[in-house]
Amino acid sequence: MNYEMVISMLRIEFIKRDLPYLIPTMDRGPVIVLPTEQMKVLEKLPDDQLDVFSTLQEQIQARYTIRDQRVVLDPYHRYLIPSQLTRKLDTLTGPMLTELEDAFKSSWGTDSKWTEVTIWKACFHVVARAANSALCGSPLCSDEKYLASLEGQSVALFGGAMLINITPKLLRPVMGYLVKLWCAYYARKFTKICAPYVEARIRETIHSKFQVGNGNKSEKDALQLIIDEAISRDDDTQLSVQLISDRLLITNNVSLHGTTSTLHNLISSLVTSDPSLGYIEALRQECDKALSDAGGTWNSEAIRKLKLVDSAIRDSMRVAPFASIAMARAVVDPSGISIENGKSRVLVPQGTILALPMESIHCDETIYPDARQFDPFRFVKTKSEGSDSTSDGLRYETIKPTTTPDDHFFGFGTSKNPCPGRFLAVHEIKLIVAYLLTNYDIEYTEARPQLTDLLAMKIPDMKTVIRVRKRCI
Ligand code: HEM
Repeated sequence: MNYEMVISMLRIEFIKRDLPYLIPTMDRGPVIVLPTEQMKVLEKLPDDQLDVFSTLQEQIQARYTIRDQRVVLDPYHRYLIPSQLTRKLDTLTGPMLTELEDAFKSSWGTDSKWTEVTIWKACFHVVARAANSALCGSPLCSDEKYLASLEGQSVALFGGAMLINITPKLLRPVMGYLVKLWCAYYARKFTKICAPYVEARIRETIHSKFQVGNGNKSEKDALQLIIDEAISRDDDTQLSVQLISDRLLITNNVSLHGTTSTLHNLISSLVTSDPSLGYIEALRQECDKALSDAGGTWNSEAIRKLKLVDSAIRDSMRVAPFASIAMARAVVDPSGISIENGKSRVLVPQGTILALPMESIHCDETIYPDARQFDPFRFVKTKSEGSDSTSDGLRYETIKPTTTPDDHFFGFGTSKNPCPGRFLAVHEIKLIVAYLLTNYDIEYTEARPQLTDLLAMKIPDMKTVIRVRKRCI
């Protein structure tokens, strides 16, 4: 039993007794970790008592990492983009597939001999291209310079925020200034690459508004949604190319990092699983069947049939969470808020951070038997042969879909404040996993530590290499 496991067990003891506990942190000062039930009650408090959004902005040090503060102060893209794109998963699947097929060829190779790929880099490339087919469309989504600037910006934003967070409070403005320069460098690069496309899109949109029948694109990507909203504001400054590209950039930031980490951790969980359990083969079998039922081309209906893949994603997100302590919320009520502490209550002052012990809950043996083990079958049950329930030809049925948060699974946040991009993200990950397994062999390898603890975050090893080869189909 290692140190981490001992801490996790102690946390579980507090949580079982429904007691909050306080931990000192380097980045956020004292953080009060709450039992789930209490957080559920507190999350019902209005935003002027307990805050989510500003706490998230503080975590990424938005005042330094985001170039144009209008993106933070008026974040209309936050819900507009994920909610609109989620409605169009059916039509987004084709363009996503085109992009990821090409991305696989260039970053995973076409060789039928075993070759090495660095999981993080190869996943980022595929995820960025597939996601950007829905965010800005072709040709930008496959432009190598655009993709490289996204990767650079993502390192600058998340790495920079982490650097500021570990810097003593007094010196943070100095570190913040340096990180600001770093992020602004990539933001400028990004805008320069996007500018001709953004300008052309603005022109086309304005022009189409004056045409009879309104020629405005009906299939709107995120860029179009941003431009339409900016035009509706009746304020020319909203249409600045820089502001529009900054909104596209932040949407990429919130989307790409989480999706790449999730995919990375799933692939790591699969290749380090015991080969005799046959997890990779079982998932591939499900993908092969869904693909052949769909006539050989992936569509959203075929993706929805991937019940085992969905369960594998959920269990990988459970066993390899993005943080040990997460869902930070700040008390913003000047008079503080009252929390339960056993039979008494304690007044928590303004500025205190409350959070959930995500990893301890995800790894609690009383909730998840064999909790430290990855088990792709954990969230499905096998349908009984010959019963009516197998009439759809599916072997498994879902017990809990990945997109549904509950009291024991916080991969996409809490039930009160779930990630608005989760349907898009899971759809994309399933499509990528399905494509990967039906087109490539991936080699099992020895188990190794997959995540490094840094502050409360759990960071994937970006240098992990696996061996893959193109399957002869
Ligand atoms: C597998 C990929 C993803 C993971 C693991 C993930 C995870 C999360 C989590 C845990 C939160 C809640 C944080 C909290 O309450 O403290 C969140 C919020 C958010 N996510 Fe995601 N996310 C993913 C993909 C996406 C995508 C694709 C989009 C957009 C296209 C997106 C947009 C957002 C936004 C805008 C919020 C903030 C909501 C708010 O401001 O309250 N996410 N995400």
